[in-house]
Amino acid sequence: MSPEPQKPVRYLSGVQPSGRLHLGNYFGAIQNHIRLQDQGECLYFVANYHSLTTLQDARLLAKYTFDAAADYLALGLDPQKALLFRQSDVPEVTELSWILSTVTGMGLMERAHSYKDKVAKGIAPTLGLFYYPTLMAADILIYQSDKVPVGQDQIQHIEMCRDMAGYFNHTFKKDVFKLPEGVLGTAPKVMGLTGGKMSKSDEASVIPIFGEPSEIKKKVMGIVTDSKGVAEPKDPDNSIICQLYKLLATEAEFQVMDNAFRQGGMGYGDAKKLLLAKLEETFGGERREKRKKMDEKPELVEDVLIEGAKKVRKIVAPTMEQVYEAVGIPSSQIKKRLLD
Ligand code: ADP
Ligand code: TRP
Repeated sequence: MSPEPQKPVRYLSGVQPSGRLHLGNYFGAIQNHIRLQDQGECLYFVANYHSLTTLQDARLLAKYTFDAAADYLALGLDPQKALLFRQSDVPEVTELSWILSTVTGMGLMERAHSYKDKVAKGIAPTLGLFYYPTLMAADILIYQSDKVPVGQDQIQHIEMCRDMAGYFNHTFKKDVFKLPEGVLGTAPKVMGLTGGKMSKSDEASVIPIFGEPSEIKKKVMGIVTDSKGVAEPKDPDNSIICQLYKLLATEAEFQVMDNAFRQGGMGYGDAKKLLLAKLEETFGGERREKRKKMDEKPELVEDVLIEGAKKVRKIVAPTMEQVYEAVGIPSSQIKKRLLD
């Protein structure tokens, strides 16, 4: 008897369109997302419902949603290999998040770091912001995802998601959901230009992947340093210039900067120029051209998002049927009669 063919691993991840995508998003998550498209079944979405917790401006939300999808495509996401879609085009996700909320204890929700961190940063403490991990759990579970490639800040949310899947299966005595695992990318926590984690919520902290060259130059040349002169030894481990350069350069190139910092002989201005050149080499040229084409032909991006949503909705349907049956809610067949 021939062995059963192995199912490919299903990877799922999302990125919020609450600002321009930045180097933290790229090295923490997107680079890995694109690499994985050759290794398994990949589902990636733009989490526009999540962004509503911090961005309440219709025009900007639509713009950043488009920008995020266009950035992924310009960075190498191939729609023949991976599906890209908008979270809101799969409305069953919000339906499932409600059902999950009914089996999720307040204690679990109250332990979420990101809620406390965001409130501490001045973001309005709305019910949606608090409920955010439940919507994220629904995002993950509805596709029966195996692995969730994210940056470090999202790992707790994946743990919460596993707990919610367990509560659901236990409460309704049925193994509807599998327990997903988080996977980290090359740089789980990229530091920003202002000292903390690089994050869309602090514009001054980010280097946008596809910013205008003049803007990127201004940001890099403006990185604050101490006043050590060219000849003085410097600490590369505490320099954001070196940390970012390490992500972009080859090991040998990085060693040159690292040694020059430790021994003295490289000024901060020269190090910034090297960083700037690497940024241009990585994200300029072909990638920037491709990104510009998306702005000229937005319908190409829209087509990819619609095709992606159509395909993932087929994945969602059987899981939602199992959910309806497990909890005792009429199936979608019965709901369809409402439209007759
Ligand atoms: P932001 O924090 O900028 O709003 P998102 O929350 O949309 O970004 O995150 C999208 C993905 O990028 C997630 O997987 C997240 O873990 C990752 N990510 C965000 N910022 C960083 C960072 N500074 N370093 C590493 N990964 C990051
Ligand atoms: N909360 C994630 C972030 O801020 C984005 C996201 C929403 C997500 N739903 C998800 C990531 C599901 C992975 C899986 O980065």
